[in-house]
Amino acid sequence: MHLIIDTDTAGDDVVSLLLALHTPWVSIVGITINCGNVAFDYQVANALKTIEVAGKAGQVPVYPGARNPLLRPWVNAAYVHGEDGMGEAWYPPVSQTPESEHAVAFLLEASRRYAGDLVIVAQAPLTNLALAVRQDPEFAHRVSHLWVMGGSANAVGNIEPLSEYNFYVDPEAAAIVFQAHFNMTMVGWDVCLESSVLNDADLAEIERLDTPLSRFFLQTQRKTREFNRTQGILGTTHPDSLTMAMALDPTILTKSAPYFVTIETQGLHTRGTSVVDRLGDLGHEPNARVSLQANGTRFKRILMDMLATGSTP
Ligand code: BDR
Ligand code: CA
Repeated sequence: MHLIIDTDTAGDDVVSLLLALHTPWVSIVGITINCGNVAFDYQVANALKTIEVAGKAGQVPVYPGARNPLLRPWVNAAYVHGEDGMGEAWYPPVSQTPESEHAVAFLLEASRRYAGDLVIVAQAPLTNLALAVRQDPEFAHRVSHLWVMGGSANAVGNIEPLSEYNFYVDPEAAAIVFQAHFNMTMVGWDVCLESSVLNDADLAEIERLDTPLSRFFLQTQRKTREFNRTQGILGTTHPDSLTMAMALDPTILTKSAPYFVTIETQGLHTRGTSVVDRLGDLGHEPNARVSLQANGTRFKRILMDMLATGSTP
């Protein structure tokens, strides 16, 4: 599988990268960085650091992309992941440097090179992908599958009552992507909350592993764990990793359905809310497969095994 990961590397984005980087049969052709969780240059540095931790320094190129949403000011989530996005570990810079080519140019070029054999996992606001669609609408048709972490099938929000962060940050970009006719799956916050939380017992098991990867995991997830506790979530949350795990092993997605999905760009209290037309009221053809349920047990096992052995099945 040829894979591109579009990410705002911080917190769980790091774990998702680790999963892909430790899957031997996947060829990661590039990692593209989108504005999101923390200050842009930290996100670039965090992707490079994660590649190094995975023992792949210099083997996976990192392309910086959109530093701001299409129309709106950037909204950061440093209060969730720590100022540096790595649980405030403040890792020093690594030797690999980012590419000079812009992420959007790379996405278009890679979609031509691997037309029909290219999977994209998008785990950040969708600015880079929207820009690629606007530059070349055929881009969407050359991507074999687009997995998007964002929104929610049931309007369960995490930054506003009904809005999930990735779509909230750049609703116009998300709207463009959902109109672009990708073969795509949306993995919403509701399913992630239900099936991607590592609880205190899981985290104790990870502590006992005491491998370089488990230590890196615990450090980078430290601030998220603290933040989650203030929200009544006892453990670490892994929306991006669950999405990645589904892309690597589609049996983890146990229930889904095709729906028409549109993104709210006008609402007073619903900025970026994914409107999933489950009743068919709007009368449009489905434009996305929407996740409804995941195998959380299998997801956890894959994640724990990767941290223990440095490999996924
Ligand atoms: C999403 O928002 C970000 O903070 C996480 O990295 C994830 O992609 C969850 O809403
Ligand atoms: Ca993310």
